Amino acid sequence: MTDLAWWQSAVFYQIYPRSFADGNGDGFGDFPGMIDRLDYLQDLGIDAVWLSPHYPSPDVDCGYDVADYTAVDPRHGTMDDCLRFIEEAHRRKIRVLFDFVMNHTSDQHPWFRSSRSSPTDPKRDWYVWHPGKNGGPPNNWYSTFGGPAWTFDETTREYYYHFFFAAQPDLNWHNPEVRAAMWDSVRFWLDHGIDGYRVDAIGTVFEEPGLPDHDSPLAQRELLEMWIEARRSGREVNEILSREWKRMFRHQHDRPGIHDLMKELRSVVDEYPHAVLVAETDDIDYHGEGDEFHLVFNFPLMNVGDLTADHVRRNQSQRLADLGDAWPCNTLNNHDAGRVRTRFGDGSNDEAIARVAAALLTTLKGTPFLYNGEEIGMEDLLVDDAGLFRDNLSTWVYRSSLDLGLDETEATRLAAFRGRDKCRTPLQWGPGPNAGFSPKGATTWLPVHPNHREGVNVADQVDDPASMLSWYRRLLAARRSSSDLVAGNYVSLGTDPDVVRFRRGSTLVALNLSPRTQPIPLEQPRIVRLGSHRTEGIAIDTEVRLAPFEVLVAV
Ligand code: GLC
Repeated sequence: MTDLAWWQSAVFYQIYPRSFADGNGDGFGDFPGMIDRLDYLQDLGIDAVWLSPHYPSPDVDCGYDVADYTAVDPRHGTMDDCLRFIEEAHRRKIRVLFDFVMNHTSDQHPWFRSSRSSPTDPKRDWYVWHPGKNGGPPNNWYSTFGGPAWTFDETTREYYYHFFFAAQPDLNWHNPEVRAAMWDSVRFWLDHGIDGYRVDAIGTVFEEPGLPDHDSPLAQRELLEMWIEARRSGREVNEILSREWKRMFRHQHDRPGIHDLMKELRSVVDEYPHAVLVAETDDIDYHGEGDEFHLVFNFPLMNVGDLTADHVRRNQSQRLADLGDAWPCNTLNNHDAGRVRTRFGDGSNDEAIARVAAALLTTLKGTPFLYNGEEIGMEDLLVDDAGLFRDNLSTWVYRSSLDLGLDETEATRLAAFRGRDKCRTPLQWGPGPNAGFSPKGATTWLPVHPNHREGVNVADQVDDPASMLSWYRRLLAARRSSSDLVAGNYVSLGTDPDVVRFRRGSTLVALNLSPRTQPIPLEQPRIVRLGSHRTEGIAIDTEVRLAPFEVLVAV
């Protein structure tokens, strides 16, 4: 394993700072809270954390609207707290990645305030301004979070472009001063000792030159209507919907120039030889010739309704072939996607399915990224009061649904489902008030899931060898101690509809994704290395009957 870089053998864990641990009891997660929980993370067996943004932010997009790249939001603590976190993590051999939001800033960032103040302001060209066309916006583009992508600014009577919310103006990365300023902020945290970045929304950095209209015959509202129809009838998002969605945004994504820019970013980060760059994209072109990102997420693995054996096999064979020499990076969820137990659950075997999914993620070839709370089996929470939504995407869906004639209850339910609050609720540390995230009487920034009272919490699971938390610890320990599971080649075995079976090096992994017993052939007798249903160290013969949802790792 010695010839692998640290980020190839590491297990990463995403911390969503506002929901991880609340040190000062104000209902909002912070660095002192995170520091207190580093022993927990060390005990879990992870090697690195990625923190979603901790920078000052007016929070229109839960911190992804950054108002200062080189400071700490006071709600998360002080700069000293942050630096102490980095130091304390390192003391426990946990590496630290921050989130670099490069497509846009907050509209409250001093750069944008300056830019919008006058057409002759020195920072005017730091953002994407346009006088408009025929008395309207320059084209028919939409913001991915709803409404037009151009907002008219009264002060200078021009439009500015934003792929996301209007409060997230896109930076003009063609401007060398923007590049220099942003690269300085990248260096700032690396100089303070972090180990790299997860880079946000890179695909949307550049727009099609000439700003041509999109040619989708549909309006965004019609797409929303189609989505609502699909939800109502219990269908997965249909093909027309995803095709039209792509078509509508095609001039706003992955446009020329982006790979040169990523090479530039990489050369800045390479000034720090240990540092790693992880891209929020699944497009493997972003590995470049090994001169762009070290890791690119395998989102296609997670973007399915059901986690089936066929899907996993197809995903792996295609992904590994496409990647060539680049290193794989697997994940099953994050702060934008619903929780595994809810998404892949069938209503009766949710926990068992989540356990198999965790085993899959940690035994496939590549660097696994876990999302906080998965290790105790947290579930999505659909906030049932639109007044409590914190994700403005939900608010937009809610308002548009009311406009489309839905009643309050249905609009709230759909908006909660479509938005991302559901997977961002506070981490459940115990069975008591506020799930032990905040003290009794505090109001947490999002409600806590009531299932913290029914065992879905750290305190109830930590000493229980049968708990989900113990399962995760065992999986991570098995991975850490097996060079096969970290570095071994992946060889797919069999085509069983319900069983994923593969070898990593000479280690066998068999995962029964079904509630039925499944016989599987073994080409040779083996010893159980890790088992959900079998004792480690016992010998198994060449004929094995996997119990429902059994996980078997054998050497
Ligand atoms: C990324 C983030 C998401 C955010 C968006 C805009 O997709 O993961 O949470 O809303 O970028 O910054």
